[in-house]
Amino acid sequence: MEDPRTPLAPGLEISRIVTGLWQVADQERAGAALDPRAAADAMGDYADTGLTTFDMADHYGSAEVIAGTLAARRDDLQFLTKWVPEPGPASEEAVDEAVARALERLGTDCIDLLQFHAWSYADPSWLDCLFMLAEHQAAGRIRHLGLTNCDAVHLDMAVRSGVPIVSNQVCFSLLDRRAAGAMTEVCRAHGIRLLAYGTLAGGFLSDRWLGRDEPPIDESLTWSQMKYRRFIDRAGGWDRFQGLLGVVDGVARRLGEGQPTGVSMANVACRYVLEQPAVAGIIVGARLGENSHAGDNLRVLCMALDDEARRELDAACALLDPIGGDCGDEYRRPPYLTASGDLSHHVTSFPAPYPVRRSGAAEYVSTGTPWEEFAGFSRAVRRGSRIHVAGTTASHGARLIGGRDPAAQTHFIIDKIEGALQSLGATLEDVVRTRVYIREGVDWEPVARAHGARFADIRPANTTVYANTVGDDLLVEIEADAEVA
Ligand SMILES: NC(=O)c1ccc[n+]([C@@H]2O[C@H](COP(=O)([O-])OP(=O)(O)OC[C@H]3O[C@@H](n4cnc5c(N)ncnc54)[C@H](OP(=O)(O)O)[C@@H]3O)[C@@H](O)[C@H]2O)c1
Repeated sequence: MEDPRTPLAPGLEISRIVTGLWQVADQERAGAALDPRAAADAMGDYADTGLTTFDMADHYGSAEVIAGTLAARRDDLQFLTKWVPEPGPASEEAVDEAVARALERLGTDCIDLLQFHAWSYADPSWLDCLFMLAEHQAAGRIRHLGLTNCDAVHLDMAVRSGVPIVSNQVCFSLLDRRAAGAMTEVCRAHGIRLLAYGTLAGGFLSDRWLGRDEPPIDESLTWSQMKYRRFIDRAGGWDRFQGLLGVVDGVARRLGEGQPTGVSMANVACRYVLEQPAVAGIIVGARLGENSHAGDNLRVLCMALDDEARRELDAACALLDPIGGDCGDEYRRPPYLTASGDLSHHVTSFPAPYPVRRSGAAEYVSTGTPWEEFAGFSRAVRRGSRIHVAGTTASHGARLIGGRDPAAQTHFIIDKIEGALQSLGATLEDVVRTRVYIREGVDWEPVARAHGARFADIRPANTTVYANTVGDDLLVEIEADAEVA
């Protein structure tokens, strides 16, 4: 058997097969919490097999409390948890409370890995939260910081802004290979590791569903199955998914020949993701006390795919429609590939990212940079259907976002423009004109490509020029005009 453990970051070694506890929230969906002692017993059974690492979140029902119950009995566990705050302004008190709550529930004085989920990049609060979490890390309450469902652009942006991110938890499976693209490149460039969930698509990627009829998406399914049924639809539907299962079955049978315990279809699906270059570990969900697959899943570490298997699996995946966009888009834009098919389980509202002041027929947005105060301008002004966004740089309060990387700065600038537009009731799609000023001597191409990545489907008129931009580290400045239909 291969080493079941891997270093995720200095001082933190985790199981390569992490046990995921979102399923606890589902088991508690009727309202009654699991008995923490009995559930901790079931969790302990996983740890006894060597699977000592568990993934949870503040909103996974009583998962953190159950973990804390087990932690009182043994000290060989690693807890990866998350903070998933509702969108809106980030206060120091809210961050302090979130950290204190996790510490108390987990019964520890230091969280091994705290993973943060951002709902909207147009609201810079997500960066504020990360900067504040980094202070908790410096104070010793968090060992390492991670992200979850972050896309490649914003992972890169956070790291270049000085946040010491070690991991990103994303969906990654035979059904959903988005993480194999730009995400893997960013991870490799910065030494970040992926924690992959959805590797079994809620159990659909196993022999149980081979040749079975399509189940309707309703409450008879687990939440996890409801979620991945939507992925299956997005990938081309149940019949095409059955084609993939047929290939996985063939690979499992061939690789299992002569093996005393055989190779399961789930083993093949897990192994495919575990072998991907940036992946540190896969997270496999467990319904504590109801079903355990620890024995079968450990066999993933006793097998390997060969070139033929990889070719067959890649070819089968290529017959599916790719899940569009980047990692985490399923939580940020339609079609929402969540259990409920929308964000109703997660978010109550999206407050305006920036404050708006009204005066007569005009509305003015402030993004709080010192420049706006002393130079006497607004980030954006709306009069009727027209919105003008001022020349915008990658400054956020007193901070520079994106470091001295022109592409990362450009993406943050466009996020800021988007946030200003949203505050005035518009979207990036309403932009009809952009003017881009690039500091003399800075490579224009990454800036143009970042602009292209965000505006390719919108196609505003554009001017891009070299200029002597103000501010030493501010390499790019963009202004925009929008027309609301
Ligand atoms: N960051 C995020 O946004 C996010 C989102 C989703 C999940 N996650 C994390 O990832 C974890 C995994 O959740 P998931 O929803 O992606 O589910 P998953 O791991 O794809 O599927 C879990 C289900 O697969 C079945 N299963 C496990 N091992 C099996 C095997 N060897 N053979 C056959 N079936 C097997 C089990 O079904 P039965 O219980 O019916 O036997 C289990 O409940 C979560 O608990 C959570 O920690 C994170």
